[in-house]
Amino acid sequence: MSKEIKTIGVLTSGGDAPGMNAAIRAVVREAVVKGRNIKGIKRGYAGLLAEEIIDMDGKDVSDIIQRGGTILQTARCTEFTTPEGQKKGADICKKHGIDGIIVIGGDGSFRGAQKLAALGINTIGLPGTIDLDISCTEYTIGFDTAVNTAMEAIDKVRDTSTSHERCSIIEVMGRGAGYIALWCGIANGAEDILLPEKYDFDEQKLVNNIIEKRRRGRKHHIIINAEGIGHSASMAKRIEAATGIETRATILGHMQRGGSPTCKDRVYASTMGALAVDLLCEGKTNRVVGYQNGEFIDFDIDEALGMKKAIPEYQYQICQNMAM
Ligand code: ADP
Ligand code: F6P
Repeated sequence: MSKEIKTIGVLTSGGDAPGMNAAIRAVVREAVVKGRNIKGIKRGYAGLLAEEIIDMDGKDVSDIIQRGGTILQTARCTEFTTPEGQKKGADICKKHGIDGIIVIGGDGSFRGAQKLAALGINTIGLPGTIDLDISCTEYTIGFDTAVNTAMEAIDKVRDTSTSHERCSIIEVMGRGAGYIALWCGIANGAEDILLPEKYDFDEQKLVNNIIEKRRRGRKHHIIINAEGIGHSASMAKRIEAATGIETRATILGHMQRGGSPTCKDRVYASTMGALAVDLLCEGKTNRVVGYQNGEFIDFDIDEALGMKKAIPEYQYQICQNMAM
């Protein structure tokens, strides 16, 4: 028989993402509706190990659905990657009566959640990252806001790039994943996109493309470079030297992680937050919530972490075709 969950803990871990607050709000309010106690754990696994645990109720999450960041704060925590740290975390949960926990974060955070589940704390993960790089889901909390923020910024850079007839290299976030770069590549009509999953480091090909497009009358040349490739400033210098065309680099950076979440991020994060509570109430553990083919679903964490996700080849191709 599955155990009845009385007290649910919630934490945010890893990089923050717009919509995490909407998810926290949904977790807290759904738990209250379902008659469960709810505790907020501050600063991710670091706060768990430091016992930064607060009682929450419905009013504690009022006025946050529209806010970026996470009211619980977030952190990275090396101690929690050790078996001793994980055991300490599970013991602290038990000490505070937390028998179910909801972890909002990326793959790394899910690995931590998996360990807590193995130590007897019922655990559900919610995909929270602007990078969209969680294999079991087509949607992650924060991607929609981040990619819209990046798109708007790139439109602005493009205006000045066209006026000055320059080449612009715009670096977007994504250390290991090119989804923001790919989506902006299509949405902003970029001439080139450099994705960690795809880039062959053939700079001469880029140079040739810039020269050819300029010869055909193109007044700007937008290169969207993912953070994982980086080095945008030095790349700009080399491209300017090789093409004779003024080239500037703009790094969008952490502005992509902040700001008020879009409607989609608010609605999806709210749905996922409520679903996580419902899964715990059904006695489920070691699961992550995902979105596939128009439905919110859940997977075994071990299975989810074993899945692979690739850059969609067709979208990558049309991004290049549109930049003809
Ligand atoms: P994300 O969750 O966004 O992928 P990180 O990879 O930085 O971000 O992971 C967030 C935190 O999750 C880490 O600081 C660590 O505390 C925990 N974590 C990551 N990997 C593991 C692991 N293998 N085992 C236990 N905890 C982990
Ligand atoms: O949230 C994901 C992400 O933005 C990655 O794209 C990036 O590599 C990483 O976080 C950087 O995080 P930080 O600057 O907080 O270490």
